[in-house]
Amino acid sequence: MVSNWRDVYLGAAATATTLFVFYELKQVFFDPRYAASKPPAPKVNGLPDLIGNTPIVRINSLSKLTGCDIYAKLELTNIGGSSKDRVAYELIRAAEASGKLLPGRGDVIFEGTSGSTGISLTTVGRALGYRVHIVLQDDTSPEKITLLESLGATVEKVKPASIVDPDQFVNLAEKRAIELTSDPSTPAMGLFANQFENDNNWKVHYNHTAPEIFSQMNGKLDAFVAGAGTGGTISGIAKYLRERIPQLGVYLADPQGSGFYNRVNFGVLYDKVEKEGTRRRHQVDTVVEGIGLNRLTHNFLVGEELIDGAVRVSDKQALMMAKFLTVNDGYFWGSASAIAAVGCVKVAQQLGPGKKLLMIATDSGARHLSKFWKMAAKEDSEITLEEILNEK
Ligand SMILES: Cc1ncc(COP(=O)(O)O)c(C=O)c1O
Repeated sequence: MVSNWRDVYLGAAATATTLFVFYELKQVFFDPRYAASKPPAPKVNGLPDLIGNTPIVRINSLSKLTGCDIYAKLELTNIGGSSKDRVAYELIRAAEASGKLLPGRGDVIFEGTSGSTGISLTTVGRALGYRVHIVLQDDTSPEKITLLESLGATVEKVKPASIVDPDQFVNLAEKRAIELTSDPSTPAMGLFANQFENDNNWKVHYNHTAPEIFSQMNGKLDAFVAGAGTGGTISGIAKYLRERIPQLGVYLADPQGSGFYNRVNFGVLYDKVEKEGTRRRHQVDTVVEGIGLNRLTHNFLVGEELIDGAVRVSDKQALMMAKFLTVNDGYFWGSASAIAAVGCVKVAQQLGPGKKLLMIATDSGARHLSKFWKMAAKEDSEITLEEILNEK
């Protein structure tokens, strides 16, 4: 009898041990992070190989609450931290191909930028043998300025000004490039990258970002939602996807203070902050950086006719959404991504449940700690999606 109990006990212990071992093995072999079907990331040969091929993730909280599948393409996983790495690489390679840039001659790339493009130009430019001179508005997030300086860029800060002002940051960048090229004391040339007007901007999204999306989504997508800074992202991606998914809806998510919303919906580039005496800041009156504009750029015009509608997102909604995504999903994203996420929810409501929507998560919250996230951090952690949508 005694030995029987001992056998039962030993048998149970052996079974429990076997089950535990199986459970652990299952964790290792069937957990999607370790699945045998997923090959390890390859070893690569240099920084340019770390640009592109970014993952897409389902935003589970927003998907559950809207009844749609809302996805984000994580452009913030590019080596320089944003979607602008692709643009920087393409602009530099195109300039080399046309003889405007040559490594080793002391050439300098000049750009007027709200930060992300400058960081990408500096990251990629350094890897390819160039110095970079960035002109930006003096109210740009201090993190971005410090990052640029740490990367070795020359940073010139100027007061926000209208595009008609020769000292507006983009105009000044062009002027600096011309000054260097015409300096007889050096063979070095200056390249004005000109992301707003340069065709290589939208084309890199047409040729690379959009085909990745099409393949990752198995060609199944109902709506694409994006903000526009230069317009390169929305134009390039919309153009490629619409050619292959004719029924795809394309929507612009626009921050307060930007004129694009009225341009898309009513044909007039205008925002009420343009009214005499109401404007607080020269360019776009929002805490959001990177998207929104009050002038038409070539890169926006290339895809404008493909945009079906625009949704307006207030600063407060963006701040609340940024916090919502962090506390519900663990995503710590920048202001432009928060705007796009609110845009996705508004479009999902318009389209009804069961649809697949995609946005771009363009950069991380770490780039916005002392400005946007200083405010977003104070938002209530218990915030609901309904509260975000009811906010004006
Ligand atoms: C963080 C961020 N998101 C989005 C954009 C907008 O992309 P695009 O210029 O292609 O319209 C920018 C542009 O500067 C940006 O910096």
